Amino acid sequence: MTCTMRLAYDAEAIALGAKLLRAGKLVAFPTETVYGLGANALDGQAVEGIFVAKGRPADNPLIVHVGSLGQVDALVDTIPPLAHRLMRAFWPGPLTLVLGRSHAVPCVVSGGLETVAVRMPDHPVALALLRAARVPVAAPSANVSGRPSPTTADHVLADLGGRIAAVVDGGHCPLGVESTVLDVTQCPPVILRPGGVTLEQLSEYTPLGTVTDQDHASLRRSPGQRYGHYSPRTPLVLVEGESRQEIAEEITKRITRCQRRGLRAGVLATQENAQRYGDIPILVLGSYSDSQIVSARLFGALRQVDEWGVDVVYCEALPEVGLGRAIMDRLRRAAAGRDGKGG
Ligand code: TXA
Ligand code: MG
Repeated sequence: MTCTMRLAYDAEAIALGAKLLRAGKLVAFPTETVYGLGANALDGQAVEGIFVAKGRPADNPLIVHVGSLGQVDALVDTIPPLAHRLMRAFWPGPLTLVLGRSHAVPCVVSGGLETVAVRMPDHPVALALLRAARVPVAAPSANVSGRPSPTTADHVLADLGGRIAAVVDGGHCPLGVESTVLDVTQCPPVILRPGGVTLEQLSEYTPLGTVTDQDHASLRRSPGQRYGHYSPRTPLVLVEGESRQEIAEEITKRITRCQRRGLRAGVLATQENAQRYGDIPILVLGSYSDSQIVSARLFGALRQVDEWGVDVVYCEALPEVGLGRAIMDRLRRAAAGRDGKGG
């Protein structure tokens, strides 16, 4: 059992965090998306520690974070022209590019794949730490495997306190959902995970291929998508519908049904509908037309519902455009195993 240090963000914290990373220790840090759990990406043993601390399956590869464009060359075999253009357009920022892996990157980082995922985060703390460490840093989201990703240092400590050397506390992550993972080893490139950079934004630069559930080969390319994720401990049911009104009516019906059976329900609601559910635990995710606010609150909300002590949580579906695609992807995973009809 390690005693995990919480380091308030300042020059001293960055120097200490960088020193710990260079010494093979695990350090969590904020990015613009979620907190990452970092280890020196060139140190296979340190990277193995990430999988142990998170309880992460060994075949689920990690994203390598860089603090400068110059660091990418040593990590990959080649950088196709499109990847160069996307880096210029979206870095630093929430776009992860899957490229061919170089021999400098230990196999354990990529879960045995021939590729490596790389991104440059857009957060002052992350960039300062990466630049001070002067090594590329492998970092998955800093949660116990399967739990919602952490958007505050408190979330990190709740999951990993005692298992990692330190967390640099940089407050709340502004975006709140993870980066978009784009495989640029195929042509046209394929979005393996929707995230902070939207399909609409990427489409301005390139046509995009699609992944289907049946496509076994692509599941192999996107191992993280096979695992359960983001689930609160309380059963979560995602309720979809043609309109806000229809969703609210469906949830209201289900709450009444629950109450008749002596069960307690809570709701993750849009601002527009929040007043409609009566005197039960409600958390407002934001306006359905403001996906930025919703994404910033999403993972905190998925953790908070467990404090309600209810039997089931209903969550309103959100429009699946822009950032809404990433939000709905996470909500579907959080509700996985429940088809939205049972609860
Ligand atoms: O915003 C983010 O991406 C955050 C912050 C910390 O940067 N990181 C993050 O990492 O979400 P993680 O490990 O929780 O999710 C990484 C995703 C997984 O779905 C994983 O399977 C996929 O990226 N991935 C990583 N390397 C890959 C590769 N070589 N090929 C295909 N998918 C890969
Ligand atoms: Mg994760």
